[in-house]
Amino acid sequence: MPDTPIIILAIESSCDDTAAAIVINGVVVSNHTATQKVHERFGGVVPEMASRAHIVNIVPVVDAAIADAGIRKSDISAVAFTRCPGLIGSLMVGACFAKGFAQALCKPLIDVHHMQAHVLAHFIDNKPEFPFLCLTVSGGHTQIVLVRSHLDMEVIGQTIDDAAGEAFDKIAKMLGLPYPGGPLVDKLAQLGDPIRFKFPLSEMPEYRFSFSGLKTSVRYFIQAQEKANPDFKAQNMNDICASVQATIIKMLMTKLTRAAKDLGIKNVGIAGGVSANSGLRKALADAGTTHGWNVFIPKFEYCTDNAAMVGITAHFKYLNGQFCDLSAVPSAKAAW
Ligand code: KG4
Ligand code: ZN
Repeated sequence: MPDTPIIILAIESSCDDTAAAIVINGVVVSNHTATQKVHERFGGVVPEMASRAHIVNIVPVVDAAIADAGIRKSDISAVAFTRCPGLIGSLMVGACFAKGFAQALCKPLIDVHHMQAHVLAHFIDNKPEFPFLCLTVSGGHTQIVLVRSHLDMEVIGQTIDDAAGEAFDKIAKMLGLPYPGGPLVDKLAQLGDPIRFKFPLSEMPEYRFSFSGLKTSVRYFIQAQEKANPDFKAQNMNDICASVQATIIKMLMTKLTRAAKDLGIKNVGIAGGVSANSGLRKALADAGTTHGWNVFIPKFEYCTDNAAMVGITAHFKYLNGQFCDLSAVPSAKAAW
């Protein structure tokens, strides 16, 4: 452990959560998130509104994280921010704030990749051994990531269209559920029959995923059923949710299992917002028992967007001397 503690102020603002955390020597000592409620009535994130809400939230959230950690601003060793991928206006708010804050304090800056941070959320409370295979499932991404070390990762498969979280949210919207629909589908699915309705499983080569076909098939199925019974959705809501959820989980777990088997990897985890899903968490635990894997399931607060994961990533980058300067530009899309 170094004599002078490494104290990271981490900022996450890639989508609709404004978050700040303090990570000291790789330990999360404070973690605050302001979730934007403004989008609920629009059925999805409205980018311009997200940027404006980040501007309102960022100072109080950072203040709360610093106060909660019991440190002074001058104690901070480096300021970290999510640079990519995400909504460009949202990323800009976090990046500009971090740059201004770091410059005012004469501290170094660390830019963080949002999806790498989701993967490294596993290293907040755990230490998965390498190689580690992580299914990273969020509102914008669905990837199988081969993790060779903290900062050496490779996406070996991903979705060719919608992300798993997007599929949950879009199907929830069809069912008349408010945004974000994923957690609600999860809740209702627990009361329903997962084999009542059959939806097609996409057959993609290698470790690729596709969820747009499922979305279309659920739409046509509901339209057809409503012709005969206009109350079909309301009367069968729990079973529809359970069946949709089971289909998504099956597609995710099939590819994850294949990749783990092909690569001979026994350390397997899930990350990102959809890793909060109770069915997926159970499916991974069951697969661990079946295949003899060491499974890693993040705590709920580290599944959806948070700044603690940005802080832990920045901690590893700090140790590795990976800093950025004021020329680091946010990017909506980003290759690894
Ligand atoms: O990682 P995240 O917070 O933000 C992005 O990086 O996109 O993931 C958000 C996604 C949303 O699509 C949300 O509906 C989904 O995660 N999600 C869930 C659950 N909790 C969040 N999906 C299914 N079941 C859940 N319990
Ligand atoms: Zn995310």
